[in-house]
Parts: sequence; structure tokens; C-alpha cells
Amino acid sequence: MEKKELLYEGKAKKVYATDDPGLLIVSYKDDATAFNGQKKGQIADKGVVNNIMSNIIFGLIEDAGVPTHLVRQLSDRETLVKRVSILPIEVIVRNVAAGSFSKRYGVEEGRPFARPVLEFSYKNDALGDPLINDDHILALGLATEGDLATVRRCAMEVNRLMKGFFLERGLRLIDFKIEFGLCEGAIILADEISPDTCRLWDVDTGEKMDKDRFRRDLGKVEETYQAVLARVRGAGGA
Ligand code: TMP
Repeated sequence: MEKKELLYEGKAKKVYATDDPGLLIVSYKDDATAFNGQKKGQIADKGVVNNIMSNIIFGLIEDAGVPTHLVRQLSDRETLVKRVSILPIEVIVRNVAAGSFSKRYGVEEGRPFARPVLEFSYKNDALGDPLINDDHILALGLATEGDLATVRRCAMEVNRLMKGFFLERGLRLIDFKIEFGLCEGAIILADEISPDTCRLWDVDTGEKMDKDRFRRDLGKVEETYQAVLARVRGAGGA
């Protein structure tokens, strides 16, 4: 499948058209940003890690019956995906308090929740991706009630699948962000699932094994991305 014109360049990925109007090629970059683009850097080979890891996890999710945009991996950095119209909603699932939840509600990082916490934020960089609820989503016309119900159900299923998958690899899934798109009227999982979009803590040591190493200048950033990919590929992985 040939790459045609560049349609979109985001903070971490480029998206290209193909000969098929229903298919796009995503190309993962090594660029890293945090705090709505205020902190910028590069993480060597992050694009390779995120592409391969995302595809393994999307494969797991697809096999479990949750539809995704994944068609097939084309190379270390590039993947063929279905064209979707992305819902402008970031869907965040939390199993343990961390990050903005801890900051906003004054809860120490590491406190587990009795049940997963689902959060939505409005994907809008100019507004700083504000937290929104179901009523806001409906009032703003960001999704229909039916689509929102599907998003909630899929997000909970993705959490259940990923929690088990990572635990088998010695990682605790603290929280993550996913995005959904509409494809021929159906809600499907899109975007990526990687150390950029998940918090993963080592089960034994509690070590942070995700983008917080970059956000918080914790060091060993590249090594950690590689270590996460090795675990994802290992133990029954790809
Ligand atoms: P938060 O605690 O900063 O709100 O982040 C929750 C989860 O969402 C965490 O796993 C990181 C991920 N995330 C993104 O993927 N993109 C973003 O822009 C932000 C702010 C968080």
C-alpha cells in the first residue's frame, strides 16, 4: 500500500492518504510533548515502540470482539488503518489514582479505586482538553447518546483486557487514554495505546514505566520504552 499525500501531522504521528479512500497510513514519530505541548523533546525509537506495541494491543482487543481501526502493520513505524472520523473526546480510564486525578482531587498517587473511574475530556488543545461529563458531550453535540453508551462499554472492556494482559507481564495498568472514531456509522477504537497513553508501574518495584519518565524528568526514558515493548512482545505476546 502506497503512501500518498500527508493529511495531518499531530504531536506524535503523521497520517497519510492511500489509494483506497477508506484506508490511511499512520506513521509514528519520535517527538514527545507534555503539558499540552509546553514541554517538547524526542525519545529515540519511541515511534517504533508505540507502533508495534499499539498493534499488539489492538490485535488483542479486536480478537476479543471490540472493533478497532487496525488493518495491518506495514513497517516498524507505519500501520495501515481504517479511516475514521475521530470523536473529539479523550476517554480516560483509571484503576489507581495518579496524574491529574491526584492533583485535582488531592489524593496521593497509588491509591487503588474499588471500581474503574471513567473520565472524558474535550479534545481541544486551545482550551487545554477540559474535563467534561455526559451531559456536556450531548450539549456540545460531540456524540449521540447511543454512541456514548458504546464508548463506555468498549472502554470498560478494553480496561479489563489490558489489565490482565499487562499483569501477566509484570505491569500494573494505572490509567490510560483512548480515542474512538466513527467508521461507516459504527464506533471503533482508534488512535494508539502505548507508553505515551498509559501509566504502567512495575508490579514488584512500583517503578514508573511510561511517559511520566519524560514528563517528570525521571531518566531512563528510552530504556523504559524498550523494556515495555520487550514485555509486551514476550510471555505469550507477538
Ligand atoms: P492524566 O492523569 O494526566 O489526566 O492522564 C491520564 C492518562 O491519560 C495517562 O495514562 C496519560 C494519558 N494521557 C494521554 O494519553 N494524553 C494526554 O494528553 C494526557 C493529558 C494524558
